[in-house]
Amino acid sequence: MAANDAGGFVPLDELTGPRPVLAVETAVHVPVETAVKERYDTLAQAGASNLCCAPQAVYGSDELDGVPQWVLDLSSGCGAPLGAITLDPGQTVADFGCGAGLDLILAARRVGPTGRVIGIDGSMSMVRTARRAVKEMGLANVDVRVGDIRRPPLRSGSVDVLFSNCVLGMFPDKAEVLAAIGDALRPGGYAVISDVVYLDEVPEGAVSADAADADDYARCVVGLTAEQYRQLVTDAGFEHVVIRDDGQVSYRDGARVASATILAYRGAAPEAPCC
Ligand SMILES: C[S@@+](CC[C@H](N)C(=O)[O-])C[C@H]1O[C@@H](n2cnc3c(N)ncnc32)[C@H](O)[C@@H]1O
Repeated sequence: MAANDAGGFVPLDELTGPRPVLAVETAVHVPVETAVKERYDTLAQAGASNLCCAPQAVYGSDELDGVPQWVLDLSSGCGAPLGAITLDPGQTVADFGCGAGLDLILAARRVGPTGRVIGIDGSMSMVRTARRAVKEMGLANVDVRVGDIRRPPLRSGSVDVLFSNCVLGMFPDKAEVLAAIGDALRPGGYAVISDVVYLDEVPEGAVSADAADADDYARCVVGLTAEQYRQLVTDAGFEHVVIRDDGQVSYRDGARVASATILAYRGAAPEAPCC
């Protein structure tokens, strides 16, 4: 820049040369998981999500009946895990990455007052939103906790059914989360996970894990193939895995994404698999 362009002042760079980048600046690296969590914290504070699916794209209107509008506005799933399973009254269930609490509400209605629903989310603002929702709806059987699902605030082997909607896709290291899911489930329990999964191979133009940045992870567009997913779930110690193709779902931003429901059983699969 010429001296005149700066209103008569000579820019500092021209006098001293470019400022050297300090070692501490290059050393600061924000892990993807931290950047993603911060993104959802900001959305919760704004009161609406522009990411992933609006719940109306994946759940039927009868399921969503009675759920506060602001919960629907903040929901950011990529599937309908509770649409794939039945829950029994009295069961203890948990939602990893519960966000604003939509799936918590749907589960609480099914397990009833004798059941227990535990939601865990890393964003304090999301947790506050979900707590407000369950309070407003008078759901005394729901407990929403702030925590990292890789080290969840839960007792080992305490959960009958664990669900997670559009959350595992945000973790470059899914093995860590799957291990935590396996640990939380009781023997004989199972997990139902909605995620972005390509049936055969990652299609051309899709975001691969090698090229993905924090933004891609926050949008949950970094998919695995069904075979890669199955291998990860099996490696995490689950004895039986079912991957159900749910076809393409529409994101709020217009993107079309391949969605699947992954059922992962600790112990033998139930006699009548749920889907
Ligand atoms: C795509 S949203 C899905 C939210 C919710 N399951 C739904 O269907 O609306 C992902 C959620 O995961 C939460 N999250 C991100 N990283 C997390 C972590 N390390 N531990 C727990 N929750 C996390 C975010 O705060 C956000 O609420």
